[in-house]
Amino acid sequence: MSDNQLVRPEADVFGTIAVYPGSFDPITSGHLDIIKRSLVLFDHVIVAIAKNPGKKTLFSMEERLQMIRDCFPDEKRVEVAEVDGLLVDYAYMKGAKAIVRGLRAVSDFDYEFQLALMNRRIEREVETVFLMTGFRWIFISSSIIKDAARHGGDVKGLVPDHVCNKLREKFMV
Ligand code: COA
Repeated sequence: MSDNQLVRPEADVFGTIAVYPGSFDPITSGHLDIIKRSLVLFDHVIVAIAKNPGKKTLFSMEERLQMIRDCFPDEKRVEVAEVDGLLVDYAYMKGAKAIVRGLRAVSDFDYEFQLALMNRRIEREVETVFLMTGFRWIFISSSIIKDAARHGGDVKGLVPDHVCNKLREKFMV
């Protein structure tokens, strides 16, 4: 969609914008770590929850949006949004310079490489930036946290406290 006629007003208002996409079902301490690292590099970070019909989620879109908003009650530089359609089109439309993805281990690389190259093929003006997840979080994913919580495992510290409570509510533990 590299149409130079398109107006991208957000970039003028917010400075350098990055989009950090994912399913966030739910947001974890690993995701938070990536958002905080992104805020060092970018003026404004849009945490974008992508609609993924292939993934059955535990939390509704509204719950996921709210859980992320509750992580940043006073941080005006973080915006949380739902994204329907092509991520890279959304990023371009918002005036984002980059899509941020977190890398945890080598196993993430193949998929991330594919995604980044496809996104670049569609829209060359939006770069993908990979940030290393903090060492403490390289073993976690939303699925493994849900699995542990479902079976009564303690996930405190691996997710923000309010997310921990939401998981307890879901699984009644
Ligand atoms: N800490 C903890 N967990 C992390 C993590 C981190 N730093 N980084 C990734 N993960 C985990 C997530 O929790 C998730 O775990 P799960 O599979 O157990 O839920 C997993 O890694 C990867 O998921 P996520 O990062 O949420 O990405 P995704 O694969 O669900 O979605 C999108 C990837 C949203 C970027 C992609 O589907 C997309 O772009 N969709 C929009 C449509 C589109 O443009 N498609 C064309 C793409 S070329």
